Amino acid sequence: MAFFRTLAAAETIPTLAGDGVTLRVPAMADFPRWSALREESRAFLQPWEPTWPADDVSRLAFRKRLKRYMREIEQDQAYPFFVVRKDGVLVGGVTVSQIRRGVAQTCSIGYWMGARYAGRGHMTAAVNALTPFVFDTLKLRRIEAACLPRNAASIRLLEKTGFQREGYAREYLCIAGVWQDHLLYALLRGDVLG
Ligand SMILES: CC(C)(COP(=O)(O)OP(=O)(O)OC[C@H]1O[C@@H](n2cnc3c(N)ncnc32)[C@H](O)[C@@H]1OP(=O)(O)O)[C@@H](O)C(=O)NCCC(=O)NCCS
Repeated sequence: MAFFRTLAAAETIPTLAGDGVTLRVPAMADFPRWSALREESRAFLQPWEPTWPADDVSRLAFRKRLKRYMREIEQDQAYPFFVVRKDGVLVGGVTVSQIRRGVAQTCSIGYWMGARYAGRGHMTAAVNALTPFVFDTLKLRRIEAACLPRNAASIRLLEKTGFQREGYAREYLCIAGVWQDHLLYALLRGDVLG
């Protein structure tokens, strides 16, 4: 029963339209394409992500991932999206997470692009499509993002989509198995709406 309730929660999340891409909630049918894309992009993604569990791209791990996604949506903790090109091809993912309500009304975003689709503007389009969802639908007022100081693509993406650099956090996240310093960025509702 709880599983159907969480599925119902996911169905309330709209598909978001961007420039040449749409963002939609992941589904089990995405597994073959997702696992193939993650596997072929392993060397491109792993230096920038938390260590992948040994079975990360297995069907069972994807099923567990989806269950967690559905629970997080139902509990207003996180909103995961797959980025789909206009011809229907899954190219990457972007997630709104770490939602804090109360006096914070803030969240974080994380993103990845399949290696073969990188550098074509898809994540810029995805982030631009995501921000109205965060500010207007979720009614949050701040989006945070953190990236490694040497991640030129991520820095450029954030600055291009209007995020401002706010700080430097020592040993902020464990990336590729190492606690690493990060640049902290944020986009405020007021930055977009004035
Ligand atoms: C970061 C990432 C999601 C960006 O996705 P993308 O679809 O390639 O981004 P876009 O094509 O929209 O590019 C955004 C900007 O970054 C620039 N860029 C892309 N790759 C770059 C690179 N390797 N070095 C420098 N700039 C780069 C693009 O040229 C573009 O700027 P421009 O419009 O001025 O030319 C993707 O590169 C990726 O998945 N990287 C590996 C994983 C990762 O870094 N995750 C984020 C951790 S914080």
